Amino acid sequence: MRRFTHRASIRTPDGNSFRRGAARSPGTERARRDRAARRQLFSTPVPELLNRRLIFVTGKGGVGKSTVAVALGLLAARRGLRTIVAELASQDRAQRTFDQPGEHYAEVELAERLFTISIDPQHAMEEYLRVKTGPVGHALGSSKLFGAFAMATPGMRELLSVGKVWELAQLQRRTGGAAPYDLVIVDAPATGHGVGLLRTPRTFAEIARVGPIARQGRAIANTIADRAFTAVIAVSTAAEMPVNETLVLRDSLSDDDLPLDTVIVNALYPERFSAADSVKLRAALERSESATISAALGAALSERARTQTQQLQLARLREGLATDVVTLPYLFSEQIGPAELELLADVLEQGLARHEALAVSG
Ligand SMILES: Nc1ncnc2c1ncn2[C@@H]1O[C@H](COP(=O)(O)OP(=O)(O)OP(=O)(O)O)[C@@H](O)[C@H]1O
Ligand SMILES: [Mg+2]
Repeated sequence: MRRFTHRASIRTPDGNSFRRGAARSPGTERARRDRAARRQLFSTPVPELLNRRLIFVTGKGGVGKSTVAVALGLLAARRGLRTIVAELASQDRAQRTFDQPGEHYAEVELAERLFTISIDPQHAMEEYLRVKTGPVGHALGSSKLFGAFAMATPGMRELLSVGKVWELAQLQRRTGGAAPYDLVIVDAPATGHGVGLLRTPRTFAEIARVGPIARQGRAIANTIADRAFTAVIAVSTAAEMPVNETLVLRDSLSDDDLPLDTVIVNALYPERFSAADSVKLRAALERSESATISAALGAALSERARTQTQQLQLARLREGLATDVVTLPYLFSEQIGPAELELLADVLEQGLARHEALAVSG
């Protein structure tokens, strides 16, 4: 199994620095000081999830994958990790949320230590050919016929996208002089395509068997299968279809010997009314003679019903997974901007700490 050897430095408020991976070399004086500095800097330990270098965030369409990917990115950046959120399918969402203009397909800084990039397969192919084969590749990359042929190859778009993600996660970046990242978070496509993306490198390696595509495919597939390097998280909402998809995703991943590391249930409504409240609300509604009061009571009752449905689906998900999940609240704000993402990062931090503590205690 590949070992995680990167040693990025983190500076503490008192000017000392410690190395991110130091906990893996116990016994040395430097490691002891690093751990002490880490404790002094943060009241809770770095979530284990953030010790990986590559995190795929997937889930059903519209459940909040992009939102969670950026919130997780903010959390990692706060913890001193140079982080990039890689959006597939050229969404540019993170860039727009932070109102950061930048070159298309370039690495753009959103906040301190937090970057984003929008990955496009065609662009990734041109970059790959340019770097690997110099001027010949450059000519090939800009050839319309070659491009059309390559893009028509089944799975090629996924291989090129995941290849670019893999490049971002390398300490030795192949794009000359590019700085390495401590963590790459992939805002992956919705569930079915997300699994395809993770499976593609192995498929190419198996089909091609020998040659550069097989070699590259195998290297990427090994990285994805390495649990010390890669994590897969699923985002869901507490509703029937997303819960079904999350359970199917877990099974599909397991067919490929890939685990689902964490499930994040997004957009949970607060429980404002208890069962006793709902009995009182219903009785009041029966007695009410005012249309306005009846409307208010009806709204409260339907909110209680909506919350209960969510709680039932949440329980079904927990039972289906046979493990706990991390939850995020529904935010009643006009839009999810940087301030809301910071808030979600806070909740994620606490949720991950609790979740990981539970996992350790069994
Ligand atoms: N916790 C939340 N509270 C309120 N609104 C939210 C929350 N999380 C996400 N949203 C909103 O829900 C919508 C969908 O979120 P998002 O774009 O992150 O989902 P997605 O899974 O990435 O969607 P897609 O599959 O289209 O890429 C967005 O408008 C987002 O602002
Ligand atoms: Mg999205």
